[in-house]
Amino acid sequence: MTLKNKIFLDALKRENHQEKIPVWLLRQAGRYLPEYMKIRSQYSDFFQMIKKPEICKELTLQPLHRFPLDAAITFTDILTIPDAMGVPVEFISGKGPVFADSICKNEELRLNSDGALKKLEYVFEATSLIKSSIDVPLIGFTGSPWTLFVYLYYGESPKNHDELNNYLKLKSHNTHSYLEQLTETTKDYVHAQIEAGADCIQIFDSWGGLLDEKYQELSLNYINQIAASVQDDIPIILYTRDKLIDNIIDLTPIKCFNLDTSDNIDTHISKSITIQGNFNPQNFHADEDELKKMAELVYMKYKNKENYIFNLGSGLTPDINPEKVGYFLSQLSSFRS
Ligand code: CP3
Repeated sequence: MTLKNKIFLDALKRENHQEKIPVWLLRQAGRYLPEYMKIRSQYSDFFQMIKKPEICKELTLQPLHRFPLDAAITFTDILTIPDAMGVPVEFISGKGPVFADSICKNEELRLNSDGALKKLEYVFEATSLIKSSIDVPLIGFTGSPWTLFVYLYYGESPKNHDELNNYLKLKSHNTHSYLEQLTETTKDYVHAQIEAGADCIQIFDSWGGLLDEKYQELSLNYINQIAASVQDDIPIILYTRDKLIDNIIDLTPIKCFNLDTSDNIDTHISKSITIQGNFNPQNFHADEDELKKMAELVYMKYKNKENYIFNLGSGLTPDINPEKVGYFLSQLSSFRS
C-alpha cells in the first residue's frame, strides 16, 4: 500500500516542512485499550499471543482505528530475542517478565544463537502482514543488547544494582561475550524486520541509565554496531532514559532520539537531531480543558519544527482512559488539518 502520509518519516530526516506535527505513542497498543484486553483474555500467555502474526496485525491496527496516528509500531516485545535464544519468558500479572533461567542464578547460562532467527519468523511474518494493510509508516523495534542483558542477568525486572555492578567488575569477559551474542542476533533481527517492511527501527535502551562511566563500553558501542549495520536510508531511533542524550550525541551515528520524561525536549530541539517523546502519559489524567491547553501548547511550540515528533516519555499504562488520549489527539490534529 502506498503511504497516505509521510510526515513521520520526513521528521526523522529533519525535513518535515509542513505545519503538521507527526504523532505516535509508546505502547499505543496495549492494556489501556478494552479491545486489546478482549483479545488478551483469550491467551493465558503473552508470548503465545504474539507468536500469532494475524493477532499481531490486529493489535497493531487497533490504535490506528481509534486515533489520528502517523505511524504504526509492530505489536511484539523486546524480550522476543532472549526467548528465541533459548531462555523462555513468562509475563506474570503484577510482576512483569519472569525468565526460566537467569545469569544471577546460573553463571553458566548459555544463549543459543543457532536457529534464533528462524524462531523469530513470527515477528517478520507479522511485519509484512501489517505493512500490507497500513498507509502510514511502520516502526520495527528491538531492545539494546545491554537492556536485554540486564533482563537476562536478573531474570526479571531489575532491582538491586550492587549485585549487577559486582558481576560487571568480576565477569567483564563474560558480559562482553553475552553482549556480542545479543548484538549479532539483534543485527539479523533488525535486518529481517526491514526486509519484511519496517520503515525505521527504534532501539529501546531502557536500562542504559544503570551504567555511568561504562555506558559507552557496555551499551552504546553495541548499539552503534547495530546502527552501522543498517542501510543508510532506514532511520534509527534511540529510546534513551535518564538524560543520557548529551553523553551520546557526539558518539553515535544515530540522529533520532526518543526521550523519557526526565529530560526537557526544549534543550535539544535546536540540535541537528530529531526529537520525539518526553510527554508524560500521566498528563492524560487531566480534564478536557487542560488537555486542550496542553495540545495547543504542543502545537504552538513545535508546529514549525522540522525535527519534532509528538510521542510519550514512557508507555501508556492500564490506568489511562483511551477516551482522554483520543480527546487530546483530536485537539492536536484539529490545529493541523
Ligand atoms: O504498541 C506498542 O508500543 C508495541 C508494543 C510494545 C510492547 N512492549 C508490548 C507489551 C513495545 C514497543 C514494548 C517495548 C518494551 N517491552 C520495552 C521498552 C520500552 C520501555 O518500557 O522501556 C521493555 C523494557 C519491554 C519489556 C516488557 N514487556 C515488560 C517490562 C513488560 C511487563 C510490564 C508492562 O509494561 O506491561 C512487558 C509486557 C508487554 N509488552 C505488554 C505489552 C502490551 C503487557 C503484557 C500483557 O498484556 O500481559
